[in-house]
Amino acid sequence: MKVLVVGGGGREHAIIKKLKENKEITQLYCAPGNGGIAQDAVCVPYKSTDVEAIAAYAAAEKMDYVVVAQDDPLCMGLVDMLKAVGIPSFGPDKLAARIEGSKVFSKNLMKKYGIPTAAYETFDELDKALAYVRTVKCPIVVKADGLALGKGVLICMNNAEAEEAVTDMMQGGKFGASGSRVVVEEFLEGPEVSVLCFTDGTTIRPMISSMDHKRALDNDEGLNTGGMGVIAPNPYYTADVAQRCMQEIFLPTLDAMRKEGCPFHGCLYFGLMVTADGPKVIEYNCRFGDPETQAVLPLLQSDLFTIMRATTDETLDQVEVKFAPGASCCVVLASGGYPVKYESGKVITGLEKAEETACVYHAGTKLGENGEILTAGGRVLGVTAVADDLPRAIEKAYGAADHIRFEKLHRRSDIGAKALKAFEE
Ligand code: AMP
Ligand code: GLY
Repeated sequence: MKVLVVGGGGREHAIIKKLKENKEITQLYCAPGNGGIAQDAVCVPYKSTDVEAIAAYAAAEKMDYVVVAQDDPLCMGLVDMLKAVGIPSFGPDKLAARIEGSKVFSKNLMKKYGIPTAAYETFDELDKALAYVRTVKCPIVVKADGLALGKGVLICMNNAEAEEAVTDMMQGGKFGASGSRVVVEEFLEGPEVSVLCFTDGTTIRPMISSMDHKRALDNDEGLNTGGMGVIAPNPYYTADVAQRCMQEIFLPTLDAMRKEGCPFHGCLYFGLMVTADGPKVIEYNCRFGDPETQAVLPLLQSDLFTIMRATTDETLDQVEVKFAPGASCCVVLASGGYPVKYESGKVITGLEKAEETACVYHAGTKLGENGEILTAGGRVLGVTAVADDLPRAIEKAYGAADHIRFEKLHRRSDIGAKALKAFEE
């Protein structure tokens, strides 16, 4: 079978490595892929947002299945376009992808169906937004409506900061068109948990829970990024919390999407906060998380391709989704200055040595003219180690990451530290 994966980051690399375990797949392609993915799949140079071209390519090459891993092509309707040319794919259609593509859509969905989330107001006029944030109790969270690579969220400690945030978004064009509408929401406190779930619209199979580390610097300081590292499972996701999430959040969300006429197929990602009042939704993503996937999939024991096809065929109830015991840790190696300004084109060394004890997923890399691997993005690599327990997984991941060098490499040194503290509580 011929399978195409759409995207080109660490998440796609992790998906491709897992798909390679399936013997039915004879040829794997990736659009656009990257320097590391090129070692595991045939990379085809389409930007992942070039959805018409990708659909045409998939049809011309007679792909048997397409995995749409990234948010932009999902929100642009690539799954619908593939369906129109008779190619089954993994991921939600355009209408269902709104659960991530529009924060206004997802907040309204949660309000309508009583799914626990932060209280909020939405605004599409700057005057009204300003009037509101001048007097609201702080801290408060200001979010751009559309996709902003996980960076369209500002936590404002006082009213002046909130005024600046809405002005920047709605007038300054800081997040382009994504910021013309904003959501202003209550600040929630508690540990954050990510739960990625396979779903066919009716049946839901949660994967092992995880904890992302979104801030750029140690001790959760610095700007929000796409994610600087992950551990799995997340110790704050206790059996009790998991059960509440299933009853109060996961099943009601599937139900709500069906009732709205847009059942969700693919991977639904729940970004949760375990507050004193119970678990609440911080955000939904319509796809695998990046870098959560790089920590979660290495623990998946069942066959990924079989599960993916079951989400499309609506037969997920007949498929096993089993995870290995133990824990994993993924440390992201980024270019110094990310998420703002950084340099690219630096030679990366030590990859083979690191791969002796860990899995190295490529995110922003490319092949140089002489076959060397060069940096080509903000997040460059994700180094994942699996072990019997979390302390050992962390140690192993950092041990492997220590071998990797490139100019101005930046990484956090405390991935997993907060999770380890949970065991002391
Ligand atoms: P989002 O893109 O909506 O996931 O937000 C990015 C990050 O901002 C989250 O992972 C949280 O750490 C933080 N955040 C978002 N919304 C809230 C909230 N209502 N209260 C506290 N922190 C939040
Ligand atoms: N790691 C967060 C995300 O994928 O949105």
